[in-house]
This record gives sequence, C-alpha cells and structure tokens, in this order.
Amino acid sequence: MNKFLIVGNWKMNLNTAEAGMLVHRLHEKIKIHKDVEVVIAPSSLTLQPISLLTDHRKFKLAAQNAYFQDQGAYTGEISFTMLSGLVDYVLVGHSERRHIFNESLDDVTKKVAAAFRNKLVPIICVGETKTERLANETEQVLHDQVVTALANVTSEEVKNIVIAYEPVWAIGTGDVATADQAIFAANVIRKNIKELYGNEAAKEVRILYGGSINSSVAGDFLRAKGINGLLIGGASLNYAQFSDIVNIALRIKNGLKTKGDYK
Ligand code: PGA
Repeated sequence: MNKFLIVGNWKMNLNTAEAGMLVHRLHEKIKIHKDVEVVIAPSSLTLQPISLLTDHRKFKLAAQNAYFQDQGAYTGEISFTMLSGLVDYVLVGHSERRHIFNESLDDVTKKVAAAFRNKLVPIICVGETKTERLANETEQVLHDQVVTALANVTSEEVKNIVIAYEPVWAIGTGDVATADQAIFAANVIRKNIKELYGNEAAKEVRILYGGSINSSVAGDFLRAKGINGLLIGGASLNYAQFSDIVNIALRIKNGLKTKGDYK
C-alpha cells in the first residue's frame, strides 16, 4: 500500500510571521514517519522563508498555483521554473482557480505539462459543481477534467501524478462528501487513467479527497478503498486539527481499523 499523502492548502491566508508560527507548531506536533507524507502549501510569498524554517524530512512544500510559461513578460505571475528546487508539488486546477480566475481546461493541460518540464509533481484538482452533480454529470465532468489535464503526459510521468477529487460543493462549505461518493469518484478517475495508460498506471496514481475535511471525518476517507490521502483547506490552518489528521493517518497505517480505534 502507498504512503498516505496529507496536503494542507493554506490558500490566501497568513503573513510571513503567522506562517512561520504555524510551521513551528506543526514541527512540534508532527513526527517523521515513513508511511505518511505531509505537504504544506503556503502562499507563494512565504514559500521561501518557510522552506528555510522547515525540516524537509517532516514536510514537503507545494505551491498553490503557477503560470505555464517558464519566463517572460507575464506581470504578476510566477513560473514552475522558478519553483523548481523550492517545492516538490504544485496544485493545478484548484476549483478556486477554475471558478474565480476562469482557468480553462486548456490552461490546466499546459500547467501540468509545465510541471513535468520543470521536474515538479502536479496535484491536479478535479470535481463537479452542485448543479453538475444534480444533473448526473459527475462522471462526465471528471472524465473531461482528467483526460484534458493528462493530454501531454507520458506513461512514465503519469505514475507520479496526484489527483485530488474535490467536489466544488464541498469546498469550504462544511458540506463534506460521503466516503462512498469519494470512492465512486476515485473509481471513475482510475477507469479514465486505465483507458489511457493501462492498469498499472491506474493503480499507481495517488488520489486524494478534499472538501471540508476535519479531524472527525478524516479517518472515514483514509480508510476508503482507492483514496490515498487528503487535501485539506480550512482545517490545515489550525495546527491541532491538522496534526490530529496526520496522527489519524499514522494510526490507520499502524493497522487500526475502526473509528473507535483511531478517534
Ligand atoms: P476546505 O478546502 O478543506 O476548506 O474545504 C479544501 C480545498 O480547497 O483544497
């Protein structure tokens, strides 16, 4: 079984001093563990100072976004090339990027290609809106988002990618999906990857669930078949919540199966 991957997406929160304080607290609470990989995604502005403060055996870093060109006259943007060597992962196509900043499927394709060109692992976020779910379009939406994101990805590269299933209606709403809904989506995603790259690649791709995760529901998703970890927004800003979730992941890896065991 793969390691769990637990990613904290801090979004547009915390100045440099606040971010440093949170990292300091997380260092105290979280232990190095071979079965759980912990990644934090601070704002672009704080990545560099946070990197200097971080014990990289405990945490890896992710950027929340980057532009697909490597350099040039793109005022206000940062590139995957600039992030290379500073972070291991980059979030691509987060629903807030797609919906607030109008990122298109084509932008996501180009960003995934830029990530691989610069030796970074993309965490590709996919998920349906409430309207799409009610119209029974979830499967089609996931298909379109996954297939276009992978348009330029080779069969070697695909094994490294991470896909985060984040139903848009569950992000920041407190309206968490059920584990069964996450399992269904993970199956759809793996089926699409299998059709493109074969069975082995479909098994190796890591799939996360994200959307209103907190420490009381995290274990339900970590025990769900085909889910390899979590992408956590709001709860990742709270060191007690985030470290509790990491500890739940550790306990599940240590073989504790029922909710009573890991709560
Ligand atoms: P949330 O955000 O945990 O606050 O719902 C998840 C995300 O946007 O990645």
